[in-house]
Amino acid sequence: MTYQIIYSSASAMPMQLDDLEEILQHARDKNAAKGISGALVYVDGVFLQILEGDARTVEELMVRIACDVRHETVTVLKEEVVSAATFTDWSMAYVSATPAEVARWAGLSGTMALPEILSDMRNSPFNATRLAESIFAVLTSKGQGSR
Ligand SMILES: Cc1cc2nc3c(=O)[nH]c(=O)nc-3n(C[C@H](O)[C@H](O)[C@H](O)COP(=O)(O)O)c2cc1C
Repeated sequence: MTYQIIYSSASAMPMQLDDLEEILQHARDKNAAKGISGALVYVDGVFLQILEGDARTVEELMVRIACDVRHETVTVLKEEVVSAATFTDWSMAYVSATPAEVARWAGLSGTMALPEILSDMRNSPFNATRLAESIFAVLTSKGQGSR
């Protein structure tokens, strides 16, 4: 049974490239060992992350991530059993984006502000699913290799 969680959070401090690299390096090493895949988006001080894998493993990881002091207001936008993992080629892909891109990926108007986009996805989990599908399409079209 594959479980998928999509959450948003606010970084506790402005993230430099080195900070993001550190998070990603750790995530990729640990996730690969645990059969977890997913993607991380950083946009204007906000993290959006998709985690997928064995239900218990994903839930345990989510608890640890929620306790991480590098971010706050960790909010689950969507969690559900899915028929198969989407990001199997990536132990944690990274995508940088603008708020307008995130809005479009979620099927929303590109003029919406980030807080509105997040609130919409919280109320309409289907749009969070669309976001995940769009991120997968972006990664595939960029031909980003296995990670
Ligand atoms: C935005 C963000 C995303 C993270 N994603 C992951 C992840 O995908 N996998 C992971 O093992 N740790 C991730 N972490 C790190 C965990 O929060 C935590 O530091 C780590 O799981 C605890 O260390 P340990 O795995 O050595 O016990 C993330 C942290 C942040 C701030």
